[in-house]
Amino acid sequence: MRELTPETVTDAVLDQMATTADPRMKEVVAAAVRHLHAFAREVNLTPGEWIKGIEFMTLVGKMCTPARQEFILLSDTLGLSALVNGLHDKTALEEGTHTSLLGPFYREASPRLAAGGQIAKHVKPGTECILYGRVTDIRGKPLADATVSVWQTSADGLYDIQEDASGTDYRGVFTTDANGLYLVRTVKPLGYSIPMDGPVGNMVKLQGRHGMRPAHIHFLVGSPGYRELVTALYLRDDPHLDDDVVFGSSDDLAVDIVPDDPECPIPGVPSIRFDLRLSREGEADKTSGRVGSDPSAILKEKPVAAAS
Ligand code: BEZ
Ligand code: FE
Repeated sequence: MRELTPETVTDAVLDQMATTADPRMKEVVAAAVRHLHAFAREVNLTPGEWIKGIEFMTLVGKMCTPARQEFILLSDTLGLSALVNGLHDKTALEEGTHTSLLGPFYREASPRLAAGGQIAKHVKPGTECILYGRVTDIRGKPLADATVSVWQTSADGLYDIQEDASGTDYRGVFTTDANGLYLVRTVKPLGYSIPMDGPVGNMVKLQGRHGMRPAHIHFLVGSPGYRELVTALYLRDDPHLDDDVVFGSSDDLAVDIVPDDPECPIPGVPSIRFDLRLSREGEADKTSGRVGSDPSAILKEKPVAAAS
C-alpha cells in the first residue's frame, strides 16, 4: 500500500475521483480539491484552524432560512458572486448592460403592477422618485413586453422580508410598453448594511470592514430570445459607491436622481432614467442556469440525484 504524504495525498484523491461520470462535475470538483489542498499547504493549516473553519461553515448553514441566505452573503462578501457574474458576462453573445449582484433578497413572488405603479406601500413625504427608461437590444431596438422586476429596501434601509417574511413591499414586476418603456414609482433607496448579526457579519467585523452597500435598486429583466439580465442601479452620491462590501457597484451602473427631468413621463417628481440593453441569447445561456433564481427556493426539498 502506498504511503500518503502532504505531497501525494492530492493526487490520490484525484485518482479516486477520476471515475466521476459527469464530465463537468469531474472538472469542477477536481479543481476545487487541487485549490483547497494548495490553500492548506500554503498557510500550513493547523487542526485547530481547520475545526474553526468547520464551525464557521456550520454556523453559516444554521443561519439559513427561507428568508435569509447566509451562504449567498458569504459568497458576496468574499467577492465570489461578483467574480461569477463577471465570468458569466464574458460569455454573452453581445455586450449589454453589465450585471450586478442578485443578492439574497430577490423573491419570485412579487406583485405585478401596471406601468407607473408605486412599489412601496407607505411613502414618506419627499421620498418618492420615478424610475424609467427603455429596455432595448444592444442596437437600441425597443423590446416590448419585457418583464422588469425591481426590488429595494424601505426608506429605513431594510428589505421587506427582513422585517416581516409574510408580506411583500418595495418590490414589483412591470412589463414594457410597445416602445420598450418601463415606468416605476418608488422611493429613494437608502444606503444599507448587510445583515451583520450572523457569522458572515462577524467575519466582516473581524476584518475591520464597514459592511455597507451603497444605495441601490435591483433589476431582473427578461425577454424571450435574450439573455436574462440581473443588475442594479447605484446612487452616485453614496459615500460607499467605491467600497461596496459585496463588490457589486460600478461606475457604469451609477445614476443620479434628477429633480425635474422634462422627459420623465410623470412630471413634477424627482426621477432616475436608465436604459437597459439586453444581449441576444447564445449557446452559453443554455447551460449556465438561471442568473435570476429565487434564493428562497434553495431550501425547498429537492430529490437527491440517484447514482447510477
Ligand atoms: C443586497 O443587494 O441587498 C445584498 C447583496 C449582497 C449581500 C447582501 C445584500
Ligand atoms: Fe440589495
